[in-house]
Amino acid sequence: MSATGATSEKVSGRLRGTARAATNALGRRATRWERSAHRHFLAVGSRVECPVCGWHGVSFAASRKPRRMNRLCPECFSSERDRALQLWLDRHPVRPDARILEVAPLGLLRPASERLGYEYTSVDLHSSRAEIRGDLCGLPFATGSFDVIACFHVLEHVPADVEAAAQIARVLRDDGEAVVIVPWDKTNDDTDEDFEAGPEERLRRFGQADHVRMYGRDVADRFRSGGLHVTEVLWRDVFSADDFRRCALRGDDDRFWICTPAGR
Ligand SMILES: C[S@@+](CC[C@H](N)C(=O)[O-])C[C@H]1O[C@@H](n2cnc3c(N)ncnc32)[C@H](O)[C@@H]1O
Ligand SMILES: [Zn+2]
Repeated sequence: MSATGATSEKVSGRLRGTARAATNALGRRATRWERSAHRHFLAVGSRVECPVCGWHGVSFAASRKPRRMNRLCPECFSSERDRALQLWLDRHPVRPDARILEVAPLGLLRPASERLGYEYTSVDLHSSRAEIRGDLCGLPFATGSFDVIACFHVLEHVPADVEAAAQIARVLRDDGEAVVIVPWDKTNDDTDEDFEAGPEERLRRFGQADHVRMYGRDVADRFRSGGLHVTEVLWRDVFSADDFRRCALRGDDDRFWICTPAGR
């Protein structure tokens, strides 16, 4: 190896070490200093790039729950599902004045929607991040209001998920689509749900104390019974190997359920 090669190897090794230290720190409990250090130390090169905010660096930060390296953007905190949605929207443009609804927003989709020229609204039953406080089972919007709805990791909290699916179908325009993600257990045919279970049992059976079910392989059937036409879109079928590496898309979520109003 040449002297220059050895030096650059040493430098990148040292940077990797620093990045690992910062990542480990984040993995435990990220203080403001650690987050800032992470943002700066990892912002070397462009091995990974966040399509949501444009940050790039050697690696994304680790997450604690789930415990995974290279997962959260240190700038905007996007996870793999936020980055996958951004790629999907960038590559499936809707009409310029499209209306987009985000259910249970984390605050990332508004700037992205505005960049694409869409009119953005958000709704949540409790969260103050949402512009409108409202229930997915009785959405406070007129029929046919939206071109796109993003609903990630919400329906597993909603007892009447079929009613929620029917509301999604109602507020979509005839040619609109909802992009839905729920956590699910690929090893179960049927959804396991129990409204009587206490918090500990929910944690054990559904993965979180505030979840009312763990979906099985019947996810799409449940949404269909709410009046949606459902297509499962696997990320590996629509995103390239380079997208996966660059945006760190590997994780528990690996698909969208693309839902359109059935029979309209
Ligand atoms: C785990 S957070 C999802 C946050 C985010 N979308 C994500 O991808 O991580 C679940 C959110 O669903 C909201 N939620 C639960 N039931 C709801 C309902 N019936 N209508 C609207 N929002 C609901 C909760 O208030 C909470 O903010
Ligand atoms: Zn970002």
